Amino acid sequence: MDNSKSTQPIGLFDSGIGGTSIWREIHALLPNEDTIYLADSKNAPYGPRSKDEIIALSFKNTDYLLEQGAKIIVVACNTATTNAIKEMRAKYDVPFIGIEPAIKPAATNTKTNTVGILATKGTLSSELFHKTVADFKDTKVIEQVGYNLVQLIEDGKTESEEVFSLLQQYLQPMVDENIDYLVLGCSHYPYLLPQIKRILPPHVKIIDSGEAVARQTKSVLEKNGLLNTTPHQSSQAFYTNLDTAVLQSFVPGFPVSKKDF
Ligand code: DGL
Repeated sequence: MDNSKSTQPIGLFDSGIGGTSIWREIHALLPNEDTIYLADSKNAPYGPRSKDEIIALSFKNTDYLLEQGAKIIVVACNTATTNAIKEMRAKYDVPFIGIEPAIKPAATNTKTNTVGILATKGTLSSELFHKTVADFKDTKVIEQVGYNLVQLIEDGKTESEEVFSLLQQYLQPMVDENIDYLVLGCSHYPYLLPQIKRILPPHVKIIDSGEAVARQTKSVLEKNGLLNTTPHQSSQAFYTNLDTAVLQSFVPGFPVSKKDF
């Protein structure tokens, strides 16, 4: 156990602002931890990119976070996790926490035997995702790529009619097939909840992986002697390589700065 690192920050990255939904859960559970969040908005969306490109971007983000002294890396992006976590774990010594679509709780609890998943093309075409779905052969899993949603959120258009009409197009066929669970398989999508709830009937449960990732982060920090137990006023830093205004609108009151990474 290496306790000397425990006061160093938790590093998180995403292709953009989406992973702030994960940061929120981590900060709520571990308020004493310092965090550094990277929004790689310049390279968003990751979803349509090749596996090799996603691995290279994930290495770049990890290198930057380690330079800032991160003691653990939270990959707050399903696309980067499902395409690059194996390669990141092989290359670096630091512990990694990944985020994957929460198929298991949906497939275990469905009463209609039909669940929907909305995620990026990169996530749905990954080997890791295919393996997960293969574990639940008895459940019908309706997969839908959320084309253009990430870009619209990155452009600050989360509440637009354009987003609503895309969501209708993606979700109505799932409703027609009688899903009782919708899995949000992209860390940007929890910000679409108000719009999604306007479309889905109230009995359809919507799940994402944010809380589970926060619990997992806590447990890995504990196991590695990395939990920050020093009482202090924690610091939360947010870095973007594009527009600070959009990121700031998702984390009001916290410091956001533009960095070259
Ligand atoms: N927020 C990311 C995810 O969880 C990436 C979305 C994207 O850049 O396409 O998949």
